[in-house]
Amino acid sequence: MVDILPGEVEKWRALEAIIHEEAANFNFEEIRTPIMEQTELIKRGVGQLTDIVTKEIFAFTKGDNNYVLRPELTAPVVRAFVQHHLAQRGGAQKLYYIGPMFRAERPQKGRQRQFHQFGLEILGTDDPIADVECISFMMRIYERIGIKNFTLKLNSIGDPESRESYKSVLRSYLEPHFDRLSELSQKRLEKNPMRILDSKEPEDQEFIKNSPIISDHLNEESTEHFKKVCEYLDLRGIEYVIDPLLVRGMDYYTRTAFELTSPDLGSQDALAGGGRYDLLVEEIGGQPTPAVGFAAGMERLLIACEELGISLSDEKSIDIFMVCLGDNARNWAIEHLYEFRNRGISASMDYKGRSMKAQMKEANRQNAHFALIIGDNELESGKLVFRNMLKSDEQHLSLDEILNQF
Ligand code: HAM
Repeated sequence: MVDILPGEVEKWRALEAIIHEEAANFNFEEIRTPIMEQTELIKRGVGQLTDIVTKEIFAFTKGDNNYVLRPELTAPVVRAFVQHHLAQRGGAQKLYYIGPMFRAERPQKGRQRQFHQFGLEILGTDDPIADVECISFMMRIYERIGIKNFTLKLNSIGDPESRESYKSVLRSYLEPHFDRLSELSQKRLEKNPMRILDSKEPEDQEFIKNSPIISDHLNEESTEHFKKVCEYLDLRGIEYVIDPLLVRGMDYYTRTAFELTSPDLGSQDALAGGGRYDLLVEEIGGQPTPAVGFAAGMERLLIACEELGISLSDEKSIDIFMVCLGDNARNWAIEHLYEFRNRGISASMDYKGRSMKAQMKEANRQNAHFALIIGDNELESGKLVFRNMLKSDEQHLSLDEILNQF
């Protein structure tokens, strides 16, 4: 887990501001859910046999209840949607979020145990336009920031009918190789053979490479839906690559699945991912409600910015630093600091009663645009020294004249 320190927080705030701004442009509403959820929700939502549930959840028990730190936000958002009857607000619910997630993975560059995602979910429509709106929003954020070097991978993993027929084909293909599959894949073969396609185990790779592909087993409805998604992406001018082996790491997906990868990220190359999950709301106890969404890793986005030399925030600065010479000056500063701050002029002062030289150094360290130099003479004459730090020139001005400079 990682501390985000002053100096870095500014980048996060700049990124968050972009996300909030674009969400407003796309007319999405923010949702915030608790950091913890009941274990059962994540097991049912994400899937019993997924890596997340089998290996990566931080779980604990309190009394009779089992909790996890949320590893993702789709299942929690669906829980909130059902619990608070959000469908009753009418229309499709367009929700977005920003926040920390937790996965007990082996940490490495771009992979943390507490990491942050932004993402969105559209609940209540199976129109392919919704799929394309999700993808458009995702792309828009990277576009605005200036990250252009990525690949959008796209697949349809079908509806349950298509998947059942594909699963039996996949099982028949893999069964003769059972002994050579990884232990985890052996466990998954019977109940969830498609999960094997997402395996990272080296011994599985040769079988994954040559496996039958889902697109040959989609029924007419799923084929038609996927065709429309591709058509709308073409209309929007969004480039993509169809990857027939893309299945994603959660069990809730149906039909559209997508992932955005970047060569600037090294081995953890997924910037973002998402897809459609038409059955999850029902699985969690709601009315049948088709839905689609995505989430993006914020640390990975910031790593990509660093690799590309993109700076998200200006260097921190302050409008005025008050340099106080003597107790009277300090009293004056304490009394008047808020007159600046109340007008939205950022202002600070020395806290240590140091020499003028040390205070000027501090003004520089804080990147002050102006130093306000106050001593007994200045207080007596009512004219303070207002020094432009960049130009190194000084004027003698009254408080009102100084306030009028902003
Ligand atoms: P996910 O692919 O598991 O999808 O995560 C989305 C993104 O979160 C990844 O592409 C990656 O950038 C980032 N991420 C995941 N794990 C870590 C980690 N340990 N450290 C740093 N970054 C990480 C989901 O979470 C789905 N809920 C997405 C979704 C929303 N599908 C439909 N709606």
